[in-house]
Amino acid sequence: MTYQATADRLASSPFMQALRCKKADYTPIWLMRQAGRFMPEYREVRSKTGFLELCHNPELCAEVTVMAVKLLKVDAAIIFSDILLPLQSLGCGLEFVKGDGPVIHNPVRSAADVERLPKIDCRESLSYVLEAVKTARRELPENIPLIGFAGAPFTLASYLIEGGSSRNFEKTKRFMYTERRAWDKLMQHLSVIVSDHLNNQIDAGAQAVQIFDSWIGCLGQSDYIEYVLPHAARTIAGIQKGGPVVHFGTGTSALLELMKQAGGDVIGVDWRIDLNAAWEKVGYDRGVQGNLDPVVLFAEKDEIKRRVRQLLKQAGGRAGHVFNLGHGVLPETPYENVKYLVEVVHELSSK
Ligand code: CP3
Repeated sequence: MTYQATADRLASSPFMQALRCKKADYTPIWLMRQAGRFMPEYREVRSKTGFLELCHNPELCAEVTVMAVKLLKVDAAIIFSDILLPLQSLGCGLEFVKGDGPVIHNPVRSAADVERLPKIDCRESLSYVLEAVKTARRELPENIPLIGFAGAPFTLASYLIEGGSSRNFEKTKRFMYTERRAWDKLMQHLSVIVSDHLNNQIDAGAQAVQIFDSWIGCLGQSDYIEYVLPHAARTIAGIQKGGPVVHFGTGTSALLELMKQAGGDVIGVDWRIDLNAAWEKVGYDRGVQGNLDPVVLFAEKDEIKRRVRQLLKQAGGRAGHVFNLGHGVLPETPYENVKYLVEVVHELSSK
């Protein structure tokens, strides 16, 4: 196929149509963490390779990316990578400790720590991600779009400051409230990295990008407006290469209008709000992505089908719905149920 024919096929795929709020033949579905520990084939790869080692191996990342699409029959691929890799480029000592999740050995705790963060050339220091994008694009079916991604500045800052995952984000918020100038400087620094990295992934062959502001739901509305919105808006405005952009967060029922204001062609929502209510807040000039509770996949098939029907009804047959879970597939999820979900979304949404 010629380059133009391939580009046309990708652009007319149900996923790309939905991102642009155009009618599709059926509701496209992909799943956050669609290549992950719930999948025996992924666990097999991981039995021989550490997580970070895997992230740094473009061939294996591409293989895992394509594998998930072929096995699950989802409508889009997401590059296998991690939002925390740019923090490794910043020299913060990233490690994944079994059972504990990510650990940052040199966290940011003061204005002086922010000053010490190096300027990085993302194209160079994250070249292995771009290589994975190129390889995955080459190996994917020609009608399957590839999603690139990055963490949003707030979520990245929260890992940098907390030194890992957190429940209450005390250190992050204290830094934000007491070190205003250093906070803005940190967010600005991260915002440039995120826009650059997303633009580079688009250059390398990604058709769309998603920004994960996974933990933004810990903030109230006024704090979002004051400490995050300008930076999120600049990050998204910095994605110049034709987008489209999915802007995702969890616990965001009260923040959806503000996230839309910050930007994104599609707003990703979790299950804590009904999809119809979420879409009303976002406005019908944008698409929405979501939002089945990942734990529904632990139920019987009948219940999964009922919940899919309910969700599609909430979407009301409008153009611009991308089916997804409200957050990533959980490691203990029954594999058969993940496959069933994809089948049933296609079946029930086909015209
Ligand atoms: O969605 C996909 O299939 C693409 C791959 C992807 C991963 N991480 C692979 C991964 C994506 C999009 C991410 C994003 C990511 N990474 C986020 C945002 C999404 C979200 O979940 O909110 C966050 C917060 C991270 C940071 C991170 N990476 C955490 C908190 C963990 C969990 C640690 C653990 O022990 O579960 C990871 C590890 C990680 N990233 C895994 C995968 C498949 C599991 C690692 C393993 O194989 O053991």
